[in-house]
Formats: sequence, C-alpha cells, structure tokens
Amino acid sequence: MSNLICSNLEIKNNELYFGGRSTKEIASKYKTPLYVMDEVTIRANCRKYVNSLNKYFGSSAKALFASKACSFKRMYEIISSENMGADVVSVGELYTALKANVNPQELYFHSNSKTDEDIEYAISQNIGYFVIDNIEELDAINFFAGKKGIKQKALIRITPGIDTHTYEAVNTGKVDSKFGFPIETGAGEFITGEALKRENVELKGFHCHVGSQLFDSDVFVRSADTMLEFVAEMKNKFGFVTEILDLGGGYGVRYVESDPYIDIEDNIRQVAEFYKKKCAELELQEPSVRMEPGRSIVADAGITLYTANTVKIIDGYKNYVAVDGGMGDNPRFALYGSEYTVIAASKAEEKCDFNCSLVGRFCESGDILQENVNLPSSIKRGDLIAVLTTGAYNYSMASNYNRIPKLPVVMLNGNEDYIAVKRETLDDIIRNDV
Ligand code: LLP
Repeated sequence: MSNLICSNLEIKNNELYFGGRSTKEIASKYKTPLYVMDEVTIRANCRKYVNSLNKYFGSSAKALFASKACSFKRMYEIISSENMGADVVSVGELYTALKANVNPQELYFHSNSKTDEDIEYAISQNIGYFVIDNIEELDAINFFAGKKGIKQKALIRITPGIDTHTYEAVNTGKVDSKFGFPIETGAGEFITGEALKRENVELKGFHCHVGSQLFDSDVFVRSADTMLEFVAEMKNKFGFVTEILDLGGGYGVRYVESDPYIDIEDNIRQVAEFYKKKCAELELQEPSVRMEPGRSIVADAGITLYTANTVKIIDGYKNYVAVDGGMGDNPRFALYGSEYTVIAASKAEEKCDFNCSLVGRFCESGDILQENVNLPSSIKRGDLIAVLTTGAYNYSMASNYNRIPKLPVVMLNGNEDYIAVKRETLDDIIRNDV
C-alpha cells in the first residue's frame, strides 16, 4: 500500500483514483505520459486564498496566481473566473494570459531582467502593474510610459533580509539575492526616492517574496513586520503613502508523507491580525494586501501518469524502473533533489517490496524522477505508474531535451475530462527548423 498525501486521491479495486476518476481509464483514453489536473482542486485552492484574504484583510485584498507555477491558457481562465489576478514574469506568460482574456489591469509583471521590448510591449497591452526590480527598469518604464502619454502603475520589489531556510534555488528574501532592493543597504530607500521623481511612473507600493515551499508559520508575519517598518520609514522620509503591499507567495505543499501540513486560512488569519496591530502601532493607513501563491494553487491538483517500459535489476547493486517520460516533463529531482510520492497506479493495493530508482527515457544518468522508490515486485512493462503532486513547476519547466515531445495536460472536472494542452507531435518538434 502507498501513502496518499492529498484528499483528491483514493485507492479502490487495486487502482489509484484521482479527482474521483480511474487513472487506468484516463490513461487508456489519452495515453501516457500524461499530466492530469483536477479543476475542482484548483478552484478549491483559489477560493481558500480569495475567501481568507477578503475575510481577514478586507475586500480590497487580492490573490494573484504566480503563473510561473503552471502557465497555459485554461489555467488563466480558471484563476480569473475565481477572481484572482496573476503575476507574470515574461512576455510569454503575459501573452498567454491576454489570449485567455485576463483583464490586463489584473496583471503584475515581475522579472529581474526585463528588456526594453518587454517593457514597451507590456505598456502597449495596458498592463496593470510593473514590479520594479532595478533602476534601469525604472528608467525604461518611465521612458515608454511617457512615449505612450500615460502614468504607469508600479510596485518596487524590496528584499526584506529574511532567511527562510528553504532550498537555495528558491531562497529569495536574503540581502544578497539577485532579486529586488535590500532595505539593509539603503537601496530600498534610494529607489523609492528615485521612483517618486519619475513623472511617468505612479508608485503604488512595495512587493516582497522571501521563498518557496515554506512551512515556518511565522514567515509572512516576519516579512509583514519588516515591510511595514519600511512603509513607515518611506512615509516619514518622503511623505509617501503606500497603497499596496504585496507579500509574495511561498506556502509549502505536501510531496511526501513526512512533509508538514500548513493550514493556509489560519495562517492568513494570523498574518492579518499582526498586520492590523502593526499598522495601528505605526499609525499607518493599512496598505491593501496582495499575495501571490503559485505552488499551493496547483501542486496537489496534478499528477503525472507514466507507463513502465523496463525493469532492470543489477544484481547486488540496484534496481531501475524506467518509464516513458522523465526529466523532460519533471526536472525537479535533477535540479533540486525534490521528493515525490510514487504509486503503481494499476497495482495500488499490492505490497511494495521492490526497491528501485524511478528513471526516465532521457539520455543521461541524471534523468531520475525519484530514488528509493518502493513498488510491487510484480512491476513490469505496461504497468501504470503515477507520480503525485506534480501540478506545480512540472508542465511549466518542461523541455524538449532529446527532441521528445512535451506531454499534454488533461483536465478533470467531476465526470468531465478535457484536453487543456495538446500533446506535442513530431511535427511540432521541427516546426521552427529551417
Ligand atoms: N511571487 C514571486 C515573486 C516568486 O518569485 C514566486 C516563485 C512566487 C510568487 C510563487 O511562489 P510559490 O507560491 O509557488 O512558492 N522552480 C522552483 C520554484 C521557483 C519559485 C520561484 N518563485 C520549484 O520547482 O520548486
């Protein structure tokens, strides 16, 4: 028996069910390898944020989907129908959101390295907010907004100097981060003064994001504390009234049984309680809050289904089970050593006493989906294997390494199922070759 880490998973008749549906049926209808996502779970996750933010921070608070976690047109349609805006980090994400008819005023453009073309394009599309990361960007926004004859709304990304003890690749709140302006060195104050001098930029407030896959319950309280102190300093120094404070994203999700569970609603309640107290103490008008969850909106709303191709036993050493996908559809173990729960979806009630490495079909030894996986000893070619909690940063980080076509995304919605992203074909692979 395998451990089930999310409430949308069940085991019945020796088979894994996801979103109430038979994984064997979905796999035979759409073929593997396949991303399967559950719209019901995505919407429930969106509502958790939207409702808690409104309940505890008031109706002006807004949840933005950090769309780098999972970006395709249908995702933007779902989140905007749930009253969420979105954070985009490239013109590719921006374009996808616009094609999904998201109101551009609800979009926040991040990135630490925007080109002039990116900036001019976003302004031409009437984007709501830029999140300014550096002085060159501030000047370019001022220039292109002036050219269009508008005043462009913006937030400034501040580095609050908080170490979140998550993995290095996602630890972004420390002073030496490549993102944003540190408070500690005076850079935050400097850029605020500069932004207030730019006549085509309308500074609305500040942003921070300290990390990802976070479980420490006080992280958002600590960043709110530091950021509100900064807001108060900017008021004293420049008479600047902060209208918007974006606390970023980062709540963790459960990939494996040993991961903790975080009650997001209760955590938001605690942050709001602190926020109101702190604003009163500092005699601040409460800035309207934004939060930018990515992973916790989509991670548990996705699984990946694979078919086992080969079982290789290297006597006295180790065992491998190789599937029909791998690092091209999920590079997270190769990049971060990320843990996942793996289940033999078509043999889900069998005893798991065959220890192996679950590997992919890509031509490199680092193509590992997970080490130390226990599968039934009867596992063989043709069996269905599910990797759980793959809804975030899997589709969005996929590549065509080895010219292997990208997987489709099939969306479940109760008894319905539909293709949200088509499977790439071999012709797609050569489409830009001349
Ligand atoms: N806001 C900003 C400015 C961010 O940089 C991020 C994530 C988020 C929000 C959303 O954070 P989340 O709620 O998803 O934790 N590829 C890595 C994750 C990179 C996260 C980058 N920034 C992974 O697969 O774990």
